[in-house]
Amino acid sequence: MNRFTFQNPTKILFGKGRIADLGDQIPADAKVMILYGGGSAERTGVLGQVRDALAGRTVVEFGGIEPNPRFATALKAVDLVAEKGITFLLAVGGGSVIDATKFVAAAAKFDGDAWDILKSHGSVVTQAMPFGSVLTLPATASEMNSGSVITHAEKGAKLPFMSPYTYPVFSVLDPEVTYTLPKRQIANGVADAFVHVIEQYLTYPTGARVQDGFAETLLRTLIELGPEALEKPEDYDIRANLMWTATLALNGLIGAGVPQDWASHMIGHEITALNDTDHARTLAVVLPSLLNDQRGPKREKLLQYGKNVWNIDEGTDDERIDKTIAATRGFFEDLGIKTRLRDYNVDAAGINHIVTALEEHGMTALGEHRAITPNDARRILEAAL
Ligand code: NZQ
Ligand code: ZN
Repeated sequence: MNRFTFQNPTKILFGKGRIADLGDQIPADAKVMILYGGGSAERTGVLGQVRDALAGRTVVEFGGIEPNPRFATALKAVDLVAEKGITFLLAVGGGSVIDATKFVAAAAKFDGDAWDILKSHGSVVTQAMPFGSVLTLPATASEMNSGSVITHAEKGAKLPFMSPYTYPVFSVLDPEVTYTLPKRQIANGVADAFVHVIEQYLTYPTGARVQDGFAETLLRTLIELGPEALEKPEDYDIRANLMWTATLALNGLIGAGVPQDWASHMIGHEITALNDTDHARTLAVVLPSLLNDQRGPKREKLLQYGKNVWNIDEGTDDERIDKTIAATRGFFEDLGIKTRLRDYNVDAAGINHIVTALEEHGMTALGEHRAITPNDARRILEAAL
């Protein structure tokens, strides 16, 4: 196991009716800004619950944060924070709203060009405003991590940043608010959480038994929960399990002390920057192709994953790896997620664009060995056409 420092300061309020407990988590004299997305939070009544919980407080609302949140939109919120003297931010939504809120929290305290926050992947951030979240979509674990991904449409860039200052102070996870999610978003959430686990697990062995065992349990749980969550949208136990599994998939615990990959994510972000394909769908395209391409460096973990997650333990190593990758692709397809670039209108010219963008964004040494170059990414994408 590698050396690590682990600290996760986010308090979780989990279960039915927990939005009502919001008020206790925010200082009484705070000037609060509620940030939300394109209207689902209003339609589903979640915003109403939040307003009730904050009755009598000074509250300003900022709506209109897009899926794959935009830099320009977040900067408008930063201006409003200054204008209204806001002291606490509250994100109400999915990963996009929480990510935008993290960016606002950092940018509002940053002297200089906010683009530098993204360009430096967060290393220039030295402080941020306090913020909490009310999660409405189990997927990203943004509710319990310090990462954020922001799209700069004009620059054609979708870039991640992280900072120890951008953990939510608290997050409310009420599984009942997920009942209104369209099937497409549930499928996306299951696939995204699945690939988060894979990015931290499917690298090379380091003898980290608890991290491996925990990761395998999360993967098996997602394989069970995915179809169940699609079939029974109002089953509390299924939604509760899904919500907590997605949070645990990327709250830092299974990633402590182990090598991490993230190449599928970085390549996938460029597909979204190109044509706005849903984040999870880009992963379902890149991952199976990347696993096939990287079967050499990932051999031992691929065999372990096949055996412990998919019960594949017969045949030669390569046969077992073939079956394991096919099972992974089949899992995404069964969720209703297509796994080929052509399904998302990306052709050879699109691949050229993605490869150039990876170079421009400094994504030139990806994967757990920092050995995946843009040329390797091209081969992986061509095999995914
Ligand atoms: O915008 P509204 O109207 O709110 O609708 C949203 C949006 O259209 C809707 N929705 C959310 N909760 C709902 C609901 N509809 C009905 N009922 C509800 N309860 O769902 C749509 C998608 O929302 P979004 O927040 O975009 O989805 P998700 O949570 O999957 O977040 C995706 C973003 O997170 C980033 C992705 O790149 C992408 O930009 N990621 C963030 C990570 C992190 N911070 O750690 C890690 C991930 O790997 C990922 O990159
Ligand atoms: Zn993801």
